[in-house]
Amino acid sequence: MKPSRLVIASHRLPITLELSGDSVQVLPSNGGLTSALAPVVQQIDAVWVGATGTSYHPAVEDAVAHCSSSASLEPVYLTDEERRLFYNGFSNEIVWPLFHDLPSRCRFNPEYWHSYRKVNEHFAAAIAGVAGAADVVWVHDYHLMLVAQYLRQARLALAPVAYFQHIPFPEPSIFSKLPWRSEVLEAIANYDLALFQTQADARHFLQSFHHYCEVATVRETTNYSVVEWKSRRLVVAALPVSIDFEQLEQDATSDAVQELVLRIKEEFAGQQLVLGLDRLDYTKGVKERLEALRFLLRQHPELHGRVSLLQITIPSRESIDEYAAVRANVERLVCQLNDEYATREWTPLEYLCRPLGHEELLAYYRAADVALVTPIKDGMNLVAKEYCAARSDLDGVLVLSEFAGSSLQLGNDALLVNPYDVEGVAAALLEALRMPQEERTIRMSSLRSTVQTADAHNWYEKFQAFLDIARLENTSCQFENGPHALGIAMN
Ligand code: G6P
Repeated sequence: MKPSRLVIASHRLPITLELSGDSVQVLPSNGGLTSALAPVVQQIDAVWVGATGTSYHPAVEDAVAHCSSSASLEPVYLTDEERRLFYNGFSNEIVWPLFHDLPSRCRFNPEYWHSYRKVNEHFAAAIAGVAGAADVVWVHDYHLMLVAQYLRQARLALAPVAYFQHIPFPEPSIFSKLPWRSEVLEAIANYDLALFQTQADARHFLQSFHHYCEVATVRETTNYSVVEWKSRRLVVAALPVSIDFEQLEQDATSDAVQELVLRIKEEFAGQQLVLGLDRLDYTKGVKERLEALRFLLRQHPELHGRVSLLQITIPSRESIDEYAAVRANVERLVCQLNDEYATREWTPLEYLCRPLGHEELLAYYRAADVALVTPIKDGMNLVAKEYCAARSDLDGVLVLSEFAGSSLQLGNDALLVNPYDVEGVAAALLEALRMPQEERTIRMSSLRSTVQTADAHNWYEKFQAFLDIARLENTSCQFENGPHALGIAMN
């Protein structure tokens, strides 16, 4: 059965609005979530519920209403206080660092939790306002883990409610630090379907659930698990997110992109170009990557003047102090490295910190001899997949962190590294720079066919198959447990 309409909910709409006085600037939202969902919403009838990034203002409402987008947009307005406590606080100072295995960066402030609950309830009400009984509701990411619980409390007769987590789910020993761990797990159990990026993430969730909640049974099949809990069934599975391979490949060979590629190649003439491209975030391993470059240049003077790293960082979460500190740190390292090695003719490390247009992004992928994708932890990392899709010339080497979800799919043909191992990353980079043409072609062809086979369209098809399973599971569950099985209120 195909959904009649898909109601997507994520913290952010695919556009972010900036309000200054009465004028509004509309910008595309950053990050993997938006790029993963863009191809999906292009092919179906979808409503997208999400925050605008501003408080309510008629000019914002008007800008959203007139924005041309593939999905129809349903704005949620958060107050300044909610953005401080729910977004900066619970989402980005607790869940984000904890789920990326960095508990020492967490600030477990109870005020954050109270606001998180309130905002999740607010999102549930917004979804309830637009979702019809036959619509599938698909909630995305860690900002909205409690939404299904509030939908059930409202006793809405909804078709399956699914959850997809774009970031990792940590091991139980790390997750256990969360003071509200049982509440969060039980709230997730109100979804019909919970999808994670990797088998390990799904397993970590199931292990924590088993530990902190009373589970009647966990039934395992080859592709998914079913948790029976308080007369409901939750289907849990791994479904690695992807990109629109064909669209990206086609865009990357446009004349405009080719022109930009030539310009970049001219700028870096006589050098091999290494590309680092990340949202500015401490999980992306930029500091460690720059240390690896420094080590390589120290050990291999013959590379001086012949290799440049172009590090592009997209500014992110600028209202959070820690992110400003990360930026300052990276910029200090850039200066130190260039002070140490730059000459009048050669800058070893070019650094850009600004948003990139689509064509510019593709041109950098096409021009780079090596992509250095080395997060210290990442749910998936779509930059790695985009780099492969853009390389229809079958050239370019991908150096990839073993702690990115994408390493499970791309690990055979990328050069895998431990991003904390400065010497190891430097050695892999050297191997990439010296890799013979024939080996580059073999590896890139194989990487591309892996990405092409499991692209965004395939991701969405598999999502629908999992939905059918969740529907079947909960139909039999209602049959066995009576009509109240879907109406459990939890608090
Ligand atoms: C990651 C998260 C997304 C988030 C994006 C950008 O990709 O998984 O949920 O939207 O980063 O972060 P921001 O906080 O700016 O929305």
